[in-house]
Amino acid sequence: MATPSFPATYGIKYVGSKLKLIPNILELIRPLGVKKVLDGFSGTTRVSQALAGSGYEVVCNDRAEWSRVFATTFLLNERPPSHFQPLIDELNALPGKDGWFTQNYGGDGSKRGEKKPWQYHNTRKLDAVREKIDEYRLPETEKCVLLTALILALDEVESTLGHFSSYLNDWAPRSYQTMRIKLPNLTPNKGNHEVWQKDIFDLLPNVEVDLAYFDPPYGSNNEKMPPSRVRYAGYYHLWTTVVLNDRPELFGKVGRRKDSSDAESYSPFEDFRTDAAGKFIALNAIQHMLEQTRAPYVLLSYASGGRATARELAECIDVVGRLVKLVKIDYKKNVMAEMKWTNEWVCQQQPYQEYLFLLEK
Ligand SMILES: C[S@@+](CC[C@H](N)C(=O)[O-])C[C@H]1O[C@@H](n2cnc3c(N)ncnc32)[C@H](O)[C@@H]1O
Repeated sequence: MATPSFPATYGIKYVGSKLKLIPNILELIRPLGVKKVLDGFSGTTRVSQALAGSGYEVVCNDRAEWSRVFATTFLLNERPPSHFQPLIDELNALPGKDGWFTQNYGGDGSKRGEKKPWQYHNTRKLDAVREKIDEYRLPETEKCVLLTALILALDEVESTLGHFSSYLNDWAPRSYQTMRIKLPNLTPNKGNHEVWQKDIFDLLPNVEVDLAYFDPPYGSNNEKMPPSRVRYAGYYHLWTTVVLNDRPELFGKVGRRKDSSDAESYSPFEDFRTDAAGKFIALNAIQHMLEQTRAPYVLLSYASGGRATARELAECIDVVGRLVKLVKIDYKKNVMAEMKWTNEWVCQQQPYQEYLFLLEK
């Protein structure tokens, strides 16, 4: 049987990216006949891009600054590629220059023990390009297109494990290449989409949709990384800084922006502690979120990380609505298996599996 086609999307390397789940998400949503869909934790915005490309009206939200920039590029831009190409050509032709990014994030391996996310030739490019983008004084949507293209180019030559909370001992082979900014395939916006950069709890009272897709930060697919350690603001601090170009105060070995510290960028979804009643704070947050959602359908992504978490999740889903479908996705076999919501499953020790819960409220 031929695999159904789905829209191409763009995104950076991102812990928890649902790139591989896009066909499954679209397949689950299609029979419901919904029109307006919320992507409440959009991250790379790949799911939002795929939804928009499949004809849905998308409300895209994430509290990350750079995610808003991506969403603006892919959902709100009305200019054709030809409008941007001369600017991209000019940016690529700029000679590199030593600036703030080079000073803080560039290296050549000459200093013992020094680990940096990019080699000098690329941070010098970054310094020149980022300054120029501000000089253009473009309307916000157009600026977002150039910033998105810059971030995608930088992502191709970084020397990390896929996030900026540690850098590699030895330069990744890709980091020797010189970054080249390419225009992503822009389909000028024809939909009635919305882009928000809000905490989900501030957004929900003001949004009514046919289906809400939630992919909160539960954990990671990377088996070497315990879920409790995934902190998105800390992991991707550098994309925020590339967008803001605000030369923030930095801390720690990897040079994180101060406002990405756990204290300043707290999200209850990333909290793996329990409250006084012994319930996981993250799961309380999920329950409150589901309660506050104004949509007849909710599709919830869950990357299982442990037995107790799954049991708690079962309880909060029962409180809020009716489980219509539960599917487990096996990427390797390319299958989506429907599951029964039983204690047997809850008790299984299967770390880092991807599940999708379809609920009716
Ligand atoms: C698992 S990732 C989403 C990945 C996304 N579905 C994709 O395919 O790229 C979780 C996202 O939740 C965002 N986030 C964390 N706490 C949030 C909150 N309280 N409100 C809104 N977004 C939040 C993070 O910035 C992160 O991008």
